[in-house]
Amino acid sequence: MESWLDLYDNMGNYLAPSMAKDHPNLPVVKEEGCYYYGADGKKYLDFTSGIAVANTGHRHPKIVQSIKDAADQLIHGPSGVIMYESILELSKQLGEILPGDLDCFFYGNSGTEAVEGALKLAKFTTQRPYVISFTGCFHGRSMGALGVTTSKAKYRKFMQPSHLSYQIPYANVKEAPMGQDPIQYVVDKLEHDFNQLFKHQVTPEEVAAVIVEPVLGEGGYVIPPKEWLQKIREICDQYGILLIFDEVQTGFGRTGEWFAAQTFGVTPDIMAIAKGIASGLPLSATVASHKLMKKWPIGSHGTTFGGNPIACSVALTTLEVFKEEHLVENSKEVGAYAVEQLKKIQDKYDCIGEVRATGLMIGIDVIDAETGLGDGKALKRILDLALEEGVLFYLCGNEGEVIRMIPPLTVTKEQIDDGLTMLDNAIQKYKEELK
Ligand SMILES: Cc1ncc(COP(=O)(O)O)c(C=O)c1O
Repeated sequence: MESWLDLYDNMGNYLAPSMAKDHPNLPVVKEEGCYYYGADGKKYLDFTSGIAVANTGHRHPKIVQSIKDAADQLIHGPSGVIMYESILELSKQLGEILPGDLDCFFYGNSGTEAVEGALKLAKFTTQRPYVISFTGCFHGRSMGALGVTTSKAKYRKFMQPSHLSYQIPYANVKEAPMGQDPIQYVVDKLEHDFNQLFKHQVTPEEVAAVIVEPVLGEGGYVIPPKEWLQKIREICDQYGILLIFDEVQTGFGRTGEWFAAQTFGVTPDIMAIAKGIASGLPLSATVASHKLMKKWPIGSHGTTFGGNPIACSVALTTLEVFKEEHLVENSKEVGAYAVEQLKKIQDKYDCIGEVRATGLMIGIDVIDAETGLGDGKALKRILDLALEEGVLFYLCGNEGEVIRMIPPLTVTKEQIDDGLTMLDNAIQKYKEELK
């Protein structure tokens, strides 16, 4: 029989090239905890968590058991035809960890679907046609979600969404003029940008929702001041606009609290959650208060696969593992430790710029030492060399110039040390290549 590695060599014949090949499609045969086991027999430390999904670590024994147990009972709903315990118990338990009165759920399979649901819910319940999003944010690639996604123009090229939305710049404290308080600057600028938009392009009465990533993810791991998010909340309240937080990436302990809403002390009206919710099984949810959800009548939104019974059972086990192993606390503690260690690397190399972090959501700028600008080419080489050393990182930023470090929330300080030693070696090698 043909080895799958022969197929791997020709994967371009089988798989749509549109699927991003940002980083090297490492061929793996097994995953466990914080590690991937490569087809080359090597063990790789995983600092990607399968893009912020495997927060409980890969194939946690309780998760594996939970999948098996759930499959012994039910494989498919759908929740529109039958009803089952796991979907109800999960809703009850998620409601307990979500902020405010976010306690009513529409389940889907992907982050994109959760965003799609959030936009539809906002439009239906306000009966207003437009949405405002922030430049650089990523919300998914279906036509609705793409309509508010602006992290890269290539995601829209020749496929521009037909539904109109308006954009406002994301918080950028670096833009603050010398001598001006950067937080006050971004808050004032935000108010100014909203006012300009309302004056020249769309009236607030026509706006159903403002959607924002509380930490800019794919766009480059930018952490806004909490005052900036609070100001968005204030503006939404002033005009009866619904605030949607896209917590697809920031959710489930990633920022050092259960959700970024708690990290920043701002509660949205609608939340989109996915990724870490079920430790790798496809599950997502559009969340709102029951008061808002009940305005969405039967048939106005639906799904065949959303809220799959196995995925819901596994999401319940995920919550159990989080609580037993104190993963939210670990995210905060080990995240802070990782930043301390990264500062040493930053001091050592002129191609490493700013390090930004909240919990275990860490962005490391790779820059051109002469210009100080982001250097996506250097980043790519450094990540390839890091992989040769045995650690897998991901990337983000418009030019792919930010190292995205998002290990499983089970990661230990020793594993952080191992991974960062490998990163240090990789940067050292990169510097030698330049000589
Ligand atoms: C903030 C955010 N929203 C939405 C999505 C889309 O999620 P999915 O790829 O599961 O559809 C992503 C995916 O990376 C994301 O990071």
